[in-house]
Amino acid sequence: MDVIEVIVAKRDGHELTAAQIDWVIDAYTRGEVADEQMSALAMAILLNGMNRREIAGWTQAMIRSGERMDWSALDRPTADKHSTGGVGDKITLPLAPLVAACGAYVPQLSGRGLGHTGGTLDKLESIPGWRASLSNDEMLAVLRSAGAVVCAAGSGLAPADKKLYALRDVTGTVESIPLIASSIMSKKIAEGTGSLVLDVKVGSGAFMKTVERARELAETMVALGTDAGVRTVALLTAMDRPLGRAVGNALEVEESVEVLAGGGPSDVVDLTVRLAREMLEAAGISGKDPADALRDGSAMDSWRRMIGAQGGDPDAVLPRAAETMTVEAPLSGVLGRLDAYAVGLAAWRLGAGRARKEDPVSFGAGITLHAKPGDLVREGQPLMTLHADETVRFERALAALEGGYEVGPTGQELLPLVIERVTA
Ligand code: URA
Repeated sequence: MDVIEVIVAKRDGHELTAAQIDWVIDAYTRGEVADEQMSALAMAILLNGMNRREIAGWTQAMIRSGERMDWSALDRPTADKHSTGGVGDKITLPLAPLVAACGAYVPQLSGRGLGHTGGTLDKLESIPGWRASLSNDEMLAVLRSAGAVVCAAGSGLAPADKKLYALRDVTGTVESIPLIASSIMSKKIAEGTGSLVLDVKVGSGAFMKTVERARELAETMVALGTDAGVRTVALLTAMDRPLGRAVGNALEVEESVEVLAGGGPSDVVDLTVRLAREMLEAAGISGKDPADALRDGSAMDSWRRMIGAQGGDPDAVLPRAAETMTVEAPLSGVLGRLDAYAVGLAAWRLGAGRARKEDPVSFGAGITLHAKPGDLVREGQPLMTLHADETVRFERALAALEGGYEVGPTGQELLPLVIERVTA
């Protein structure tokens, strides 16, 4: 097979054959197809798209590039959730133990943050002692003892995607629905979960800025999961404003623990419970309402077991940033807009995120929101607190927030928290 023929075929808008797709993914994983050739093909795919058959073939080829996990030895159904990423999206933290407390096993492979969105592993690593890297046997042991495990995907899982995702990140080819859908679903199908709920974020703080694009991504991923035998459903949810009141690693862990203790901001609680119900339904489990498991402490028990089983101390004091700064309401009125992207970018500049994969994050850095869109505020009232390890970071964070929030006489229209449900 000739790689240039494959690139030219897609460049000229043709459908790739199954044999071409299988060969190019395998040859790229083995290093036979060079990065510059794969970059050209990724750009051709971004510009000319792929049809359902090509996307399914691409996904299966990436799955075959590595191992496929198998949880069939477990005596309960498995369920997982994947979010396409947003600002303040800490939902995995309360959700995984909550669903475990309701009777499913939750084996979740998560990632680190890059750019303005945070990563689940960075958040959990702010808990002293907690370990993200587990062997498959350790993963199984944590699942058996706690019902849920959240850890880093090992190098054996969809290695073709690992290589391709890093390449897309530096070649302007991330924003392609066929490439995003196959990237996410190859990992989730290889992870071996029996059912999957996708949280596809929509708005300024998300990959997908419009409901139409998010719907197309959701439909593509639901079809891929269903065809692979994974019961898959997707929710389109709001990311025009941040989720909850905490943005930043340790700050988000604290907020998640509040939710597990029966409190926490209503949007985080509502979305956690809604996603838990979807996961239990997809897994075929009935009988326990997730809202009760938050109230009766069983989800918190599951969280403590999960954190402890991965070396973390659930009672440890979490890291705090050394410096804080308050942003006040410029006038009295309604907080109309609080832009998710601006808040995410500001938190990133405060040190909560990283610019390159190998950069460290500051666990204590981030933003606490004292008002959410729709709230009445008075002039001079604190709108948010910025947290950073060095005061020099505040100026650039304030610049990111400029124009990112608006106080006025009336509120502004917001996306509903759950916009739409997409099924096969
Ligand atoms: N997350 C992934 O895993 N892959 C993408 O392509 C985009 C987001």
